[in-house]
Amino acid sequence: MAGRYKSDLKWSEVTPKASWLNRRQIMATAGAGALGAIAGPAFASLGAKKTAFGDGLEPNTLEEITSYNNFYEFGTDKGDPARNAHALTTDPWSVKIDGMVEKPGDYSFDDIMKGVSLEERIYRFRCVERWSMVIPWVGFELADLLERVGVQPGAKYVAFETALRPDEMPGVNYPIIEWPYKEGLRLDEAMHPLTLIATGLYDEPMPKQNGAPLRLVVPWKYGYKSIKSIARITLVDEQPPTAWETYSAAEYGFYSNVNPERDHPRWSQAYERRVGGGLFAKQMPTQKFNGYEPEVADLYAGMDLQKYH
Ligand code: MTE
Repeated sequence: MAGRYKSDLKWSEVTPKASWLNRRQIMATAGAGALGAIAGPAFASLGAKKTAFGDGLEPNTLEEITSYNNFYEFGTDKGDPARNAHALTTDPWSVKIDGMVEKPGDYSFDDIMKGVSLEERIYRFRCVERWSMVIPWVGFELADLLERVGVQPGAKYVAFETALRPDEMPGVNYPIIEWPYKEGLRLDEAMHPLTLIATGLYDEPMPKQNGAPLRLVVPWKYGYKSIKSIARITLVDEQPPTAWETYSAAEYGFYSNVNPERDHPRWSQAYERRVGGGLFAKQMPTQKFNGYEPEVADLYAGMDLQKYH
């Protein structure tokens, strides 16, 4: 996906000068661009409860997780989100929850966090572009939120949208994909205990380049399903359009389960490269459902995963 429009755009030319100045200030005061972009009260620990998820996995460093990103609203190069996402206003924040729910409304970030118990979940994260990381997310199960707002009986899918702020997001002024960024899950996928709303990582509030203040994390699917900076959640009865499927359905299906047996039309998905380690970055075989097959295979029993990719 990355690169298709890259040659047409020079992000350094289109980025408002103010954001470069701002970044220089951040670098000067915090000493590190990545840390400077962390949202919320300065580095407050979230005190998330540790769980057994991720035992034995070695997380990528904070520097890797916050400097190598896809967040096209802020540019298409891997370093653009860390450079530009500080412009995103994340406080106040609200999420419109609507469609087939009992309690629709505009929920503030604080409303959403009320009564939530945060957990750390160390998950593998696999991008369709073949890089992967291990990320110590902090968050809560999406099912908790959906139960609180009450899902109506006819609802079958959950649709998500990212905020759309042309003044803060230099990338949305270009027709890279249709904005706002959209994603969707089948209701049973959304209710699965592995599916998280993440509000932080490394026990700190979510860095803006990683999708502050709250984003989806669906660890058995390619990373683009894990939509960032969510502004709207809608319960619907039909499969909703998603940004990348609308862009190219043959390349990016609605399901997008990590699958070494189903190649992307332009590249094999048999192997992945773990970010970190420089030139000698580890190549490793891709795992079906990104290693979460025991937990999620039942969701797809009897489905042709070549067709429903
Ligand atoms: N969400 C929005 N709104 N915009 C994006 O461009 N990129 C997706 C996903 N969520 C994206 C997004 C892709 S392609 C990936 S791989 C992951 O975010 C990257 O998440 P990370 O930068 O936190 O590793």
